[in-house]
Amino acid sequence: MIELGVNIDHVATVRQARRTYEPDPVVAAALAEQGGADGITFHLREDRRHIQDRDVEVLIKTVTVKTNLELACDEATIDIACRHRPTWALLVPEGRQEVTTEGGLDVTGGRDRVERSVKRLKDAGILVSLFLDPEAPQIEAAAELGVDAVELHTGPYANTTGPERDAQLQRLAAAGQQIRTAGMRLHAGHGLNYVNVRPVAALPEMVELNIGHAIVSRAVMVGMREAVAEMRRILDLIRAV
Ligand code: PXP
Repeated sequence: MIELGVNIDHVATVRQARRTYEPDPVVAAALAEQGGADGITFHLREDRRHIQDRDVEVLIKTVTVKTNLELACDEATIDIACRHRPTWALLVPEGRQEVTTEGGLDVTGGRDRVERSVKRLKDAGILVSLFLDPEAPQIEAAAELGVDAVELHTGPYANTTGPERDAQLQRLAAAGQQIRTAGMRLHAGHGLNYVNVRPVAALPEMVELNIGHAIVSRAVMVGMREAVAEMRRILDLIRAV
């Protein structure tokens, strides 16, 4: 079974549009669990544009499936992660101006900083994954740091069509094999939706997908429980065939 991590950041985006108390990502997480989510993902950004400190604290206390805290290699945010101890910490690069996470973490170029962050999180008993582009040297460096998983960046796959998309899928497939051969779990995410998710989910080594915007968008129309259940049904068909 492919595990489904539901990213609820954009429930908080709607709340922050009015700086009010609703919709509450904590309620959304409970409904996502009822719809079949295997994990709840949330990104505590330095600029606090959606998820707030209170959300991290309450989500980690109340979610009954796995929690996956996305964060940058930033000392203050790592302090928060170590204090509340989610199941997973997912290290990502963070740019102030970006609309969403734009690329994978540069482990080869910024190894000391990533290594320090991984060590602190692991010492706190948190499983660590790194968000990476499907590039062999980055994956090799991740394996050397002893992380538990790599989440492959599927944005370029999601944003292309035709032969270009096929080429992106091949890159993900090769990277996936490298990740599993190195003994790490293979996760993937970014830009996945109800239409484009199947080929990524069908990669033989795939263990977990993290999906946010598409599920929250559908949830606005049909409700969170149903939106998650629909994605769950798609993923369940993959390994059934
Ligand atoms: N994985 C990572 C590392 C992300 O930064 C995001 C976006 O917050 C996602 C997965 C989910 O992407 P999307 O919202 O496009 O499904």
